[in-house]
Amino acid sequence: MCGVVAVIGKENASQLVIEGLKKLEYRGYDSAGIASEANGLLQIVKSEGKLFKLVDKISRLSNEKKYFDSSIALGHTRWATHGNVNVDNAHPLTSENRIAVVHNGIIENYEILKEDLISEGFVFKSQTDTEVLPHLFMKYIKLGNDFLKAGRLVLQDIKGAFAFVAMSLDFPNQLFVSRNSSPLAIGLGEKSNFVGSDAKSIDHLTQRIIYLEDGDHALVNLDGIEIFDKNKNKINRKIINIKAEIGLITKGGYRHFMEKEIFEQPSVIPQTISNLIKNNSEININLRRLGIETKSALLITAAGTSYYAAMVGKYWIEHIADLPVIVDLASEYRYRKPSIFGQTSMIVISQSGESLDTLMALRYAKKLGLSTNSIVNVEGSTIDREAEYSLYTRVGAEIGVASTKSFTSQLIILFVISIALGEKFNKLQSKKIHRFCNYVNKLPNAIAQMLKIEDKIKLVAQNIKNSKSIIFLGRGLLYPIALEGALKLKEISYIHAEGFAAGEMKHGPIALIEDNVPVIMFLVSDGNEDKAISNLQEAYSRGAKVILIGDRKCIEKASFAHLKIEIPNFETDFKSLLSPLLMAIPAQLLAYHVANERGTDVDQPRNLAKSVTVE
Ligand code: AGP
Repeated sequence: MCGVVAVIGKENASQLVIEGLKKLEYRGYDSAGIASEANGLLQIVKSEGKLFKLVDKISRLSNEKKYFDSSIALGHTRWATHGNVNVDNAHPLTSENRIAVVHNGIIENYEILKEDLISEGFVFKSQTDTEVLPHLFMKYIKLGNDFLKAGRLVLQDIKGAFAFVAMSLDFPNQLFVSRNSSPLAIGLGEKSNFVGSDAKSIDHLTQRIIYLEDGDHALVNLDGIEIFDKNKNKINRKIINIKAEIGLITKGGYRHFMEKEIFEQPSVIPQTISNLIKNNSEININLRRLGIETKSALLITAAGTSYYAAMVGKYWIEHIADLPVIVDLASEYRYRKPSIFGQTSMIVISQSGESLDTLMALRYAKKLGLSTNSIVNVEGSTIDREAEYSLYTRVGAEIGVASTKSFTSQLIILFVISIALGEKFNKLQSKKIHRFCNYVNKLPNAIAQMLKIEDKIKLVAQNIKNSKSIIFLGRGLLYPIALEGALKLKEISYIHAEGFAAGEMKHGPIALIEDNVPVIMFLVSDGNEDKAISNLQEAYSRGAKVILIGDRKCIEKASFAHLKIEIPNFETDFKSLLSPLLMAIPAQLLAYHVANERGTDVDQPRNLAKSVTVE
């Protein structure tokens, strides 16, 4: 999603902005641009595609002495919402070559504002919603307002979710910034200040960060910042000291971040576990802070892969703790009138902690009176800051757009929550608590063993790489893994893939089966496997290319399958209860290898963003 970086007060501001934009590349974008000031003129350079094209353009212009570095610069990576991917629509957007604005989010009432501005004589050069911002600034500055007053008038006019930074030749040593729902951080330096979509984008410049809150606006000067809340009251926001981390993140010898993130699961997951389980069976989750003091229903909301983790969590919590769980897509929850009957608490799950849909669901539930909690990977993210209680996956930065290690670590937290709830509501005796905690501690090793089937998965990938459409089937705990397997595959290989509950096939989706359509099932023997195998048989009888990834018993029972991948041998109870964590691995590997076979951009697949900060 769009990334914003700005620097004021450093001689090589443009270069520092580019370094910041590089740190935001993983979020996904389709064009980039930069604005700076030199010799009293605004310099704008923009390009379609990846950042290196922008860098090439700037160095060409610098060699030709047509680009000068300056002490103020704004930069942007754009993920298109309004208007095609092209240079005109790339940010910064300008007005009369005197104002430049970079923006993340959507100005929802831009059409009416644009009509008014056109009737007042402003000329629009892009199809974006953002372009109303520089023109509104220009309009109010021309009326005699200073930068702060002009910015406030702009804020009065606009509606939507946004984080933006504006610079003006009329106020050469100032930046006006504001946020509403989209994230924005300000970094404090020595006679210099910085702005970024997240703290990591400016952690090469400072470790002293202020997160603006919703409705805040600020004037960033060379030697200080003034922050105001939505009622225009001057306010002090907390300064947080962050650790510079992103500089250390490399692919570590792997071809892609996704591959590295898949393979580092056995070594990073112990960080998730060590915080949750102490001394083998003491669970470190505060159920009082989680808002579950008495038996009540629990609401979990999330998006994408995090939503599939929530689905698995429902199965576990209902099965182990006998507590009803309602799972809702964050993007749906906010726009209906959900009943909170029987509920006291909600948990949102988000790797980034910035997904706008998920953040809005959290805020909505807070308004409805629920205790709001989060499972996040990025500590200090907006969701983490707004949740009353957070549990951290702690698996380090996830750079590949496709979630891998964050999914498995979310699952672990949910499993441990189910043990904690089972203990609280007397559904688990201490022997079982001990056994389940032991299962959790065995996971890093079990995942390491699952990773060893990579070569067999590669063969499946080669076999299905040219398919037009692929079906994933699962039952029970493995139904969400079928959905996750399909999501992962479509995200990075661009092959159409759908996941279905195996028992639902006969109610409609079976019509999709024709000769050679791959039907992939993840399966472990848990006493109910025969039902799933019958569903597979139904697909086989209609010509599907049946691929089974399962334990020995299932493979023997489904000998008719065209391709059979046997997983390592695990204790029956462990493998059936924790099957989602085991089977997430072949699902991830399969998507990764199909994408590699097809030569797609694995870490930054087309159209996708890592941090989805628009609705
Ligand atoms: C997963 O591979 C996706 N990239 C996507 O579905 C993601 O899980 C979703 O956007 C939610 O993100 P979050 O966990 O950061 O909130």
